[in-house]
Amino acid sequence: MMEQHAPFSLPPLPYGYDALTPQLDERTMHFHHDKHFAAYVDNLNRLLSDHPEYQTWTLEELCQNWQSLPESIRQGVRNNAGGVYNHDLYFRTLSPTPASSPLGALEGAIARDFGDLPALKTALKTAALGQFGSGWAWLTSDDDGRLSIRSTPNQDTPLPLHPLTCCDVWEHAYYLQYQNRRGDYFESWWQLVGWPQLTEQYASWMDHRPRHPQP
Ligand SMILES: [Fe+2]
Repeated sequence: MMEQHAPFSLPPLPYGYDALTPQLDERTMHFHHDKHFAAYVDNLNRLLSDHPEYQTWTLEELCQNWQSLPESIRQGVRNNAGGVYNHDLYFRTLSPTPASSPLGALEGAIARDFGDLPALKTALKTAALGQFGSGWAWLTSDDDGRLSIRSTPNQDTPLPLHPLTCCDVWEHAYYLQYQNRRGDYFESWWQLVGWPQLTEQYASWMDHRPRHPQP
C-alpha cells in the first residue's frame, strides 16, 4: 500500500469483521473500514484526479511532501493521504490471534528503550489518552532502530520515522462500542496488537537499514 500510487484502492480487511470480538465489535469494524477508511481512499483519488503530475507519487511521498502541493489540494491530500496511510497500518497490525509478545531484536529494543513491555504500554497509553481531540498514538522506530512513542493530531503521520503500530483515537474508532471511554478502548486495542508481525517488520528494517559510515 505504501508504495502504491493513484488511483488507490481500499485494501480488504485482512480478517473477518467479527474476528476481533469482543475487543472490537463487528459493527465498529464495518463502519471504520467500509465507511471511514473507504472515504479517505475515495477522497484522495478525487483530489488527485485532476492532477496527473502527482499520480505517480507513492502514498508515503504524498504524506511526507504535501507541503509542496498546490494550495487547492494541499490540505485535502494531507488529511486524506494520511487517513489512508494510517488506517492501512492500523488494520494490518491488529490480529485476531494476538496472544503473543515481542521477540528477537524488537524485544531487545523494547528493553533498551522502555525498560520492559508494561512500560512501553504505559507510555503509549499516556500518548493515546493525552492526544486532545482526534489523532493517533504510535510506536515508531528511527533509522537506527531506536524506538519511541509519538502522537499526531488529525490524520498526520509520524513519517519519516518508521511506524510499527498505531492506536486510532478518533472517536469513530471506538464510540459505537465504548462511547467516551477512550481508556477502555485502548486496553482492548492493546490486546489485539499482532506482535509477531511487528517483530518481523522490525527485524526486516534492521536487516535493510541504511548503513551510516563508521567514524
Ligand atoms: Fe479511524
